[in-house]
Amino acid sequence: MCSAMGTGTSLGTRNRRYLYLQAMGIQAWELRRPQTEAHAVGHQVVRTQETDNPSIVEAPEGPAVVDLDWTPLQTAVETCTLCDLHSSRTRSVFGVGNRNADWLLIGEAPGRDEDQQGEPFVGRAGQLLNAMLLAIGLQREQVYIANILKCRPPNNRDPKPEEVVCCEPYLMRQIELIRPRLILALGRIAAQNLLRTETAIGKLRGRVHQFRDTGIPLIATYHPAYLLRSPGEKRKAWQDLQLAVETLRERA
Ligand code: URA
Repeated sequence: MCSAMGTGTSLGTRNRRYLYLQAMGIQAWELRRPQTEAHAVGHQVVRTQETDNPSIVEAPEGPAVVDLDWTPLQTAVETCTLCDLHSSRTRSVFGVGNRNADWLLIGEAPGRDEDQQGEPFVGRAGQLLNAMLLAIGLQREQVYIANILKCRPPNNRDPKPEEVVCCEPYLMRQIELIRPRLILALGRIAAQNLLRTETAIGKLRGRVHQFRDTGIPLIATYHPAYLLRSPGEKRKAWQDLQLAVETLRERA
């Protein structure tokens, strides 16, 4: 299926969408539904008040990244030793995609495949993510993809607060440089860290937040790896994507 897509053959947009929805495990008749549900939530911007993360963690002194352009920023990431993860990484995973993208997708942290290849979302979860993007008419290359952490936690354990604190300036600088029109937080870890909350992902998804004080709309959805384990939740992820599309359209 994918090779046919890639060759730009005569498959119409509807057929293509149908095939990608199938790849996501979503029946085509669901296409119409999210539009009404998106309207039902009214695209209300919810400022997340829950800055309830109790653990204040200090970052060690590191290189000032606030003014760095792309190349020195990437070098800073590749040579970073701020937290212990540097000693177990094969490669850091800086981020990939269009540096002028409207869409910034933020996941959790590199997994085994990403650690080997130095690129985010290249494993099975990445393949599903690509299919999800194509279902809304986006090629992977059109968006920018990054993670909360640039280095893989051993055995894919959850990021530790001190690791997040060390890594956050790199991501913040990427956000400043890209100036995306929308952030899509993939999964609990990304959503909770970006929104500085401990609210469950099931409660964070399905509405439009604002990313801190930037005015950038942020939509949280389930992580593709979770969707692989729980395909029954794909319908909600599809609704979140529709909400994101609609949010961008409204703000055009
Ligand atoms: N999961 C993530 O959150 N990020 C990746 O890059 C790969 C898997």
